[in-house]
Amino acid sequence: MNKGNVFISGASRGIGRDIAIHFANNGYKVVGTSRKNFDFDEDLNNLFPIKLDITNRDDIKDCFTELKSNDLLPSILINNAGITSDQIFLRMKDEEWDSVIETNLTGTFNLSKIFIKNMIKNKSGRIINISSVSGLMGNPGQVNYSSSKAALNGFTKSLAKEVGSRNITVNSVAPGYIETDMTAFLDNKSKEKIIKNIPLGRFGNVKDISKMVMFLASDEASYITGQTISVDGGLLMY
Ligand SMILES: NC(=O)c1ccc[n+]([C@@H]2O[C@H](COP(=O)([O-])OP(=O)(O)OC[C@H]3O[C@@H](n4cnc5c(N)ncnc54)[C@H](OP(=O)(O)O)[C@@H]3O)[C@@H](O)[C@H]2O)c1
Repeated sequence: MNKGNVFISGASRGIGRDIAIHFANNGYKVVGTSRKNFDFDEDLNNLFPIKLDITNRDDIKDCFTELKSNDLLPSILINNAGITSDQIFLRMKDEEWDSVIETNLTGTFNLSKIFIKNMIKNKSGRIINISSVSGLMGNPGQVNYSSSKAALNGFTKSLAKEVGSRNITVNSVAPGYIETDMTAFLDNKSKEKIIKNIPLGRFGNVKDISKMVMFLASDEASYITGQTISVDGGLLMY
């Protein structure tokens, strides 16, 4: 039985790939995107990898039409795709700023805008944005990335207020340091320095994020909206 349709951006690797497989294993039909053709290499017939750049609005429109005709419009949208382009502010190039904002923030706008209409019609839906601890506490070399992620938290709150009456929840998950390609550039010395500030004493695993996303998508989380929930081993505490 199909428990619902999920659409997740940035599903070819890392956190997004794990979330997609986690939902598919739990009986959802999952469409996952990446800028390149990819495969999940899983023995599941409810996982659909598609090539879609979330910054390309024409391609998003075509994708919407295709999903609609295949009865795959999502009741759960997970805005996960994100990029970094780190640079100290004085040296940050315009394209380093633009590309990060366009993918992390505008990409989330593009997908939410097109998919929310059907959720409003059905008076039911979940939007889960993958933010970052960097958007909450800042990080040197990440003015572009932190700004995009902080903006996602504001996006989450405002949209949650607009669509709460339609039984749609909108939340963010703010991961700390998770072992993926995005953090693979860190050498052991830098990792040790970071770990000293993480009370749980380790980087997170992709599963730590998937489980939180699954919870937010579930009926158990039906009274939670507009929140940014940190999953960071205690790195940031208010
Ligand atoms: N890893 C961490 O420590 C960490 C911490 C905090 C927050 N996060 C956030 O968690 C999310 C996932 O991170 P990750 O570590 O799993 O990153 P990752 O391993 O670099 O994977 C990023 C995914 O996004 C896709 N992507 C990038 N730009 C895209 C676009 N324009 N259109 C469609 N897909 C696109 C990538 O595929 P292609 O390159 O093939 O397009 C890939 O599938 C991101 O939003 C990131 O900011 C990660």
